[in-house]
Amino acid sequence: MQSFNHFLREKGVPSDIRSLLYHIARSVKYINFSIRAGNTGKQGAENSFGEAQVAMDVLADNIIADELKKSELAKVIVSEEKEAPEYFPAPRGDFFVAYDPLDGSSLVDVNCSIGSIFGIWEKSADILDRKVDKHFVASCYAVYGPRITLVIAIKDKGVHEFELNDVGEFILVKEGLKLKDKAQYFAPGNLRSCQENEAFKNWVDDCILSGKTLRYSGGMVPDLNHILLKGNGVFAYPSHSKYPNGKLRLLFECAPFAFAFREAGGEAKTEKGASILDITINDYHQTSSIFIGSEEAVDNAVKFMN
Ligand code: AHG
Ligand code: MN
Ligand code: MN
Repeated sequence: MQSFNHFLREKGVPSDIRSLLYHIARSVKYINFSIRAGNTGKQGAENSFGEAQVAMDVLADNIIADELKKSELAKVIVSEEKEAPEYFPAPRGDFFVAYDPLDGSSLVDVNCSIGSIFGIWEKSADILDRKVDKHFVASCYAVYGPRITLVIAIKDKGVHEFELNDVGEFILVKEGLKLKDKAQYFAPGNLRSCQENEAFKNWVDDCILSGKTLRYSGGMVPDLNHILLKGNGVFAYPSHSKYPNGKLRLLFECAPFAFAFREAGGEAKTEKGASILDITINDYHQTSSIFIGSEEAVDNAVKFMN
């Protein structure tokens, strides 16, 4: 029974990164509490006490921003729910944190698993015009499912899964998650693309013909968590006439997972074959197509796409 802070200290993770992760983990506990309390209403609705209900995405965004501010380590933060970055006085550090406060918000009302995603960079200045990989130090995501888990990836120190116990501590459950090169599972997002993109359709057909098993929930967090925890698989979200550059957001969704999957020995590429971690950040809200998972399976998918 090892708490995440103790485990990370033993791994030699610097105290400022551990402290930032502690605040992120706290925000995850509050979001979990909020979900369990049934705060699933849409913005503008009223709860049974006649109070204005806040959409879960906005509530989660506020909870995380509050915690990051309290950490005194995050100088600049940006999220899917914020048009522009927010700047905090951060006397203890100089981190840039990008996050998707609630991933899979359309799944909240039907009680499917959802999540939160975080990317952490050092040197908060000039995040624009930088390659994703530059000064990227850690990423993590939470899964709000039947169990509440937190998966943390630290540069050169592996990817580890923690689970929230009854007394509110995240305890190590799996150390050193690794991805095999070959995939047994496939998770094809945006299947509408098959109608207009023959290459994508051919890849999907190839997955079926080669006997892969479909595992797809419609939430990026549970879908990618499935791949990482099973140790193999490939997830895709290609471009489409509605989303010429893909739908998933580079900073809040693609990059944190690309970082974690690479740490686990996997791969993440755009449909053109560029590494997600090599993309230059031009806009906080830019999107990207993505093929991510087991290395061989991602390379094979990219071959089909080109
Ligand atoms: P969010 O709830 O943060 O807006 O993200 C939803 C994302 C992702 O979780 C999922 O993989 C994808 O949208 C599904 O997209 P479609 O609705 O186009 O299938
Ligand atoms: Mn999302
Ligand atoms: Mn979201």
